[in-house]
Amino acid sequence: MPFNQKHLLGIEHLSPSEITTLLEAGESFLEISTREVKKVPIFRGKTIVNLFFEPSTRTRSSFELAAKRLSSDILNFSSQSSSVVKGESLKDTVRNLEAMNVDTLIIRHSCSGAPHYVTTFCQSHVINAGDGPHEHPTQALLDAFTIKQEKKKLENLKVVIVGDILHSRVARSNIFLLTKLGAHVVLVGPPSLVPVEFKKFGVDIDYNLDRALEKADVIMMLRIQSERQQKNYFPSIREYINLYSLNPKRYRRAKKDAIIMHPGPINRGVELSTDLADSAKSMILKQVEHGIAIRMAVLYLLMGGKEREIID
Ligand code: CP
Repeated sequence: MPFNQKHLLGIEHLSPSEITTLLEAGESFLEISTREVKKVPIFRGKTIVNLFFEPSTRTRSSFELAAKRLSSDILNFSSQSSSVVKGESLKDTVRNLEAMNVDTLIIRHSCSGAPHYVTTFCQSHVINAGDGPHEHPTQALLDAFTIKQEKKKLENLKVVIVGDILHSRVARSNIFLLTKLGAHVVLVGPPSLVPVEFKKFGVDIDYNLDRALEKADVIMMLRIQSERQQKNYFPSIREYINLYSLNPKRYRRAKKDAIIMHPGPINRGVELSTDLADSAKSMILKQVEHGIAIRMAVLYLLMGGKEREIID
């Protein structure tokens, strides 16, 4: 199936077949990272820019490794050590980087819509690496990829997403992706962080985690996004932990083979207990590993790699 998008700005406007194409391409790239020489000569001479206006460990590192494993050059731009601190605008920053003849811009920004805005004036491919609380498409792709690797399907799985749904771009992208591919998504958290409006996305909402975990195949725990909160959304952290933290006793309510996921960074002991985070049921480091394969696939399909090149 061809992939005819120039940019990856979100999951919301992708078709199920485009998502499937990205996931299948990820399977082709997974093996490359296990080779002695973890590199294929697909994008020699191309230049990719990691343009991060917010902190990142996983996304930035794995885009960098994905670009390098495709033989591209990569420029890591950090806003804190750039002329952004002297007042340079996003538009001027991008236009100056583009003047250096780059091919692809990977953008993380605190403002929803920033990557979309950049596409209105730049020539390069643009990939959204997380824009405010809006979308984080490559995270949802790597999450779906991980679920498929473990469960061999997405259709009819019960996926329980727990935590600060309101401020989570990971939750939004996962909701779009998982519902498009036929999973049953249940959102759980305090009412202040799981607005009923989310039902319009074709999900169920439950404010009782113990009940929602019954028959769950996948449990996705999310961090409280305190950096995006202007007020208190629950009375105390102790109360939040009592009601919404995943611990071994709670986990036993889910299916025996239920997997635990988290996009990171984890606040151990808050949304997830340390013993579960480090258990055999935890897919957290698998998610990170799969992030490189998925990001290689995204770069490959957007930048026009040829099918035969994957195996060269
Ligand atoms: N999952 C994720 O986006 O992690 P980083 O913020 O470390 O990139």
